[in-house]
Amino acid sequence: MDNIELIKTASDNVFILLQEGSRKLVTRNLTPGIQVYGEKLITIANVEYRLWDPHRSKLASIILKGSSVSIKKDSEVLYLGAANGTTASHVSDIVSEGVVFAVEFSPRAMHDLIRASIPRMNLIPILSDAMRPDSYKNMVTQVDFIYQDVAQREQAIIAIRNAKLFLKKDGILVLMIKSRSIDSTGKPKDVIDNEVKKLGGFFNVLELIDLEPFHSDHVAVVAQRV
Ligand SMILES: C[S@@+](CC[C@H](N)C(=O)[O-])C[C@H]1O[C@@H](n2cnc3c(N)ncnc32)[C@H](O)[C@@H]1O
Repeated sequence: MDNIELIKTASDNVFILLQEGSRKLVTRNLTPGIQVYGEKLITIANVEYRLWDPHRSKLASIILKGSSVSIKKDSEVLYLGAANGTTASHVSDIVSEGVVFAVEFSPRAMHDLIRASIPRMNLIPILSDAMRPDSYKNMVTQVDFIYQDVAQREQAIIAIRNAKLFLKKDGILVLMIKSRSIDSTGKPKDVIDNEVKKLGGFFNVLELIDLEPFHSDHVAVVAQRV
């Protein structure tokens, strides 16, 4: 392919692909030749990459927007709300020498997540409720990151309960908040401010990122465990 440039991001194995004025996000495919959800595969200089659509993945949208989140290839990640594995599979690409513990409580989504995990030795699906981290404490180690995208009311409680058990000191929480999932009547800014306030004392908030134009009514909170 001509006129293609790959630009590194703050996270390992994630690149911005520049081609004829367009900017696309890709991850280096941990399992060459295998797609997870019909995403496009692109080979450049004999290396295969998977296109990562920021409209389908909130994590992709914050990386494309220049977040400082820096996931390393040997990082250990606890992913809460992994759904059918779309984003979790890209996190598995990123942590090519690490591990992703992927918690999901919907048996239907778990079916697809298990299928995505079969060729990916670093992606561990766990059918459990993220509100009850005790139920999976024997399956999860101490982690560098918690990525939480559960679209629930009790976002801060879920984050703190999981961080107490699993997040290393100085570890990073990336929390996706949809204000209408918490309170459909309050002003979005107030609802989000209130949820962020609940993290205080346990986390230092490093970044608040509005996910427009990729996901409306969503904010990402990046915070460090104190
Ligand atoms: C917005 S979707 C996640 C999308 C996914 N992160 C992605 O980017 O591909 C939210 C998911 O969280 C799951 N979920 C909600 N509450 C949960 C809980 N308490 N424990 C585990 N999973 C939960 C839902 O079943 C749903 O699959």
